[in-house]
Amino acid sequence: MAQGDKDIVLISEDAAFNDRLGAILAGQPGFAVTRCDASLARINGKASDLAKVSELIVFKATPDALDEADALRALIASGGNARILAVSDSRTPFGVAHGLLRVGVTEVVPDTIEDAELAKVVGRLSMPRRLTLTAQDQHEGHVIAVSKARGGIGATTLAVNLADQLCGKKRRFGKSETRKVILVDLDLQFGAVAGFLDLPPNDALYSMARDRVEPDSVFLQQSIVTTPSGLSVLAAPEGFMPLTALHPDQMRFLIGRLRKMYDFVVVDLPPAMVDWLTPVLEAADHVLIVSGTSVPFVQQTRRLIDFFKDQNPSLKIEVIVGQEKKPLIRSRRHVEAAKALQTEFRHWLPPDAKVAEDAMDRGRPLSETAGGAALTKEIAQIAADLVKSIGVSTLNRTASADRPGR
Ligand SMILES: Nc1ncnc2c1ncn2[C@@H]1O[C@H](COP(=O)(O)OP(=O)(O)OP(=O)(O)O)[C@@H](O)[C@H]1O
Ligand SMILES: [Mg+2]
Repeated sequence: MAQGDKDIVLISEDAAFNDRLGAILAGQPGFAVTRCDASLARINGKASDLAKVSELIVFKATPDALDEADALRALIASGGNARILAVSDSRTPFGVAHGLLRVGVTEVVPDTIEDAELAKVVGRLSMPRRLTLTAQDQHEGHVIAVSKARGGIGATTLAVNLADQLCGKKRRFGKSETRKVILVDLDLQFGAVAGFLDLPPNDALYSMARDRVEPDSVFLQQSIVTTPSGLSVLAAPEGFMPLTALHPDQMRFLIGRLRKMYDFVVVDLPPAMVDWLTPVLEAADHVLIVSGTSVPFVQQTRRLIDFFKDQNPSLKIEVIVGQEKKPLIRSRRHVEAAKALQTEFRHWLPPDAKVAEDAMDRGRPLSETAGGAALTKEIAQIAADLVKSIGVSTLNRTASADRPGR
């Protein structure tokens, strides 16, 4: 795909329809067309992913098109900015076309329209969103980075389960995903996220570094895996990868793309300080440092805070006390540690090796293996507090950006 091409997705079981649209678009430069020879409902998961990185989705509307209304709603709610064009065949009643518009389709045109006219409609609707939206409408997910003052304190446990909790609440009929969340394992050399979620390691970040490519929509579709509970994951590579292999511009591009696709980008940071952390920290809203309250922990945490603040002065930094139960009365050590870090410890992850390791062994988030455990509840509280601090108005903006201009 040439740089700057507009991503357009064609969805129809009718190969002749896809051929016709494909030919119209092939006659004009600047379109990168992806064909899906299936109905909307059948490719819905994939369509949602495509919607996040495309400018326009074109589908063939049959008289039964409203049977696919749920698939359409899911597509529209997926967090993408793509507009949707329905091309209705001549048997489709007016009421159905009207219904599609009410569901959120941007425009409906009859398939009797001339090719030249259809090309014009496609050209107009595929104008890149960034040229037509105000800054307020643009979807920018929130980046939350998780770091640690020393290894083994529970940072990855927090990152995995925070991402899981940010996805949304459990409802009666299973988890209804109210927010789109991706967990990115940037602990490139010792990444353990894949193991926590029973996923295979992923060489995508390594290939991105080795081939010096910027992660485009195809790269991301191939690299991101979604767990059964709906959490998207970009895992770390299996083999050894030099930390300096990644270029800061690649990381800037990756985080930028992911922010457009997700409401929350949760990042498990490496213990090292490398140049490509700068774009991650510049994009981040919050950094959570899992630490302890003893002197060596406090010294290391102080260094981390100074480093993070240096990278992004407006970053909100919170120190989470790892593997320590919240005391009823704070000891002198707690008070001194909080003072040295100029913070208050709001969240404490209680020690519970059995619960933490059982979830790890089963490759499932704590919410599925030990929903009632104090550790699970504390991480749920951290997620709830983050959502609250980011502010309802911001999340509303995110929700409305799902279908701007429709
Ligand atoms: N609150 C907890 N109580 C007891 N054990 C825990 C707790 N949280 C995590 N663990 C266990 O501690 C070990 C290390 O956890 P984790 O991988 O989350 O730490 P980390 O800080 O990311 O370490 P690493 O340096 O390997 O990245 C795991 O075996 C995990 O199950
Ligand atoms: Mg870790």
